[in-house]
Amino acid sequence: MSRRPYIAGNWKMNKTGFEAEDFVFALLPQIAGDDIAEVVICAPFTALSNVIDSSRGTRIKVAAQNMHEAESGAFTGEVSAGMLRDIDVRAVVLGHSERRQYFNETDEALAAKVVVALENDLEPILCVGETDAQREANETEAVLKTQVETALANVPAEKLGDVVIAYEPVWAIGTGKTATNELAQEACAFIRSLLDPGAADKVRILYGGSMKPENAAELLAQPDIDGGLIGGASLKADDFAALVAAGDAAA
Ligand code: PGA
Repeated sequence: MSRRPYIAGNWKMNKTGFEAEDFVFALLPQIAGDDIAEVVICAPFTALSNVIDSSRGTRIKVAAQNMHEAESGAFTGEVSAGMLRDIDVRAVVLGHSERRQYFNETDEALAAKVVVALENDLEPILCVGETDAQREANETEAVLKTQVETALANVPAEKLGDVVIAYEPVWAIGTGKTATNELAQEACAFIRSLLDPGAADKVRILYGGSMKPENAAELLAQPDIDGGLIGGASLKADDFAALVAAGDAAA
């Protein structure tokens, strides 16, 4: 089964609304040719509307970087799935390692968030990945298994195919240290083996961690790597356009 390549730029806490629009205007002419790969921009909350308004009717899909699982209520500083849908956000990053590390995001909270995102027609981009210490201790598979199985525990079988999973080894994020093709493929294949056989072939599994134009093609050529979640190299329109081209070519 062929899965549509998925190229997502994770801007993290970067770009004002004006800078976001500038980026979109620089990117659009460069990705206008082939509409093969899905192109996703994960913008900070304050720039979401700028990206949405400047990219309406184009191939760009806009994602948030987090959401709260409750519909509304006394959760100061949080944003709900319904609020994201209200401004036409269509996807959401959940469980990024920076949120697990600095904001106490737990697998249990993610289990609720993934379901709520799906119920609100937001495509969840669930991030999983081991730390350096866990890999050294030979715990990679155990860690991935817990993260994937806990976060997806409440997803109805018929919805599982709508989830996107990003394998992001923590030691490769923002470090310039990319996983080898073999290691990334092995982890992504392992993640796929954990999924219900009915949906495993449908789920897009991305690699993330210092992916850039120079190494994207070979990573995307791996059979179980269906795209990338890209941080640093997604901040410049030219680099991100090159990554989208690699995604188009990988189909
Ligand atoms: P990086 O970040 O590409 O800068 O390593 C990836 C991510 O954190 O999603």
